[in-house]
Amino acid sequence: MSAQLITGKPIAEKVYAECHEDLEALKKQGKLPGLAVVLVGDDPASRAYVGMKERKCSELGLHSVKIELPDDTKQEDLVAQIEALNADKSIHGILVQLPLPGHLSEDEVILKIAPEKDVDGLHPINIGKLAMDDPTGFAPCTPLGCQRMLIETGLGISGKNVVIIGRSLLVGKSLGLLLLQKGEGGNATVTIAHSRTEHLAQVASKADILVAAIGMPGFVTADFVKEGAVVIDVGINRVDDASAKRGYRLVGDVDFDAVEPKCAAITPVPGGVGVMTIAMLMANTIRACRMIEG
Ligand code: GUN
Repeated sequence: MSAQLITGKPIAEKVYAECHEDLEALKKQGKLPGLAVVLVGDDPASRAYVGMKERKCSELGLHSVKIELPDDTKQEDLVAQIEALNADKSIHGILVQLPLPGHLSEDEVILKIAPEKDVDGLHPINIGKLAMDDPTGFAPCTPLGCQRMLIETGLGISGKNVVIIGRSLLVGKSLGLLLLQKGEGGNATVTIAHSRTEHLAQVASKADILVAAIGMPGFVTADFVKEGAVVIDVGINRVDDASAKRGYRLVGDVDFDAVEPKCAAITPVPGGVGVMTIAMLMANTIRACRMIEG
């Protein structure tokens, strides 16, 4: 069996077309959504992600601000920066690129972001709203992107057995809550598995929809996958490759070549979920502007 390839680009383009329409409507009312991205330190992958977010804002015509802080930034200085952005009327969305350097408390920083500007969906108020099926909150962007890919693929979510491997707030746990919600794009039966799950391959092999979000290259092998399953690979791992121009290549958490023949559909890496995160960030920022400006 050859699996359907779920590529992110056409789905992201559809999201951008919606963003464009929403943006035009807002601009007619004299409103311009603004996104602030805060980067602390010099992690090359984080820098690359922040650059991509900035470029997309400029392509779409959103106002964007990049705040770069040194690696040794003090907690109180970062918090002061967040508070300034909370008060800035031209900014509707705030994203602090994670991970932060080890001496900083991510939890405290996220708590300081005004929930109505938390387009990353990580503030406890927004996680709470996600858990309560309250649509006025923001869900994290990568889970939203995964959900949108599943919706657009049309293979169904409602009533399906979903197994997510990975319990991070940024992806696994939030995606579980999203797919569990009542209504369109939800109604799944969700299992969140993780490094301590016993008989992990056996648990995963019960999934109609299997999501890998663990950050371990090629971790999901054929024995994890039920014949005819839909597989969503959230992993973006750099592995050394002397033959590649940059000296590394990107691979997912799924051993694609081994798993693909068993699947009904599968996302590639690169070219799958990755592009959806920024698309959903743009959509969340435009929605934040609409909600704040009224
Ligand atoms: N680092 C990797 N992905 C993300 C994301 O979606 N949001 C933030 N804030 N940091 C990240």
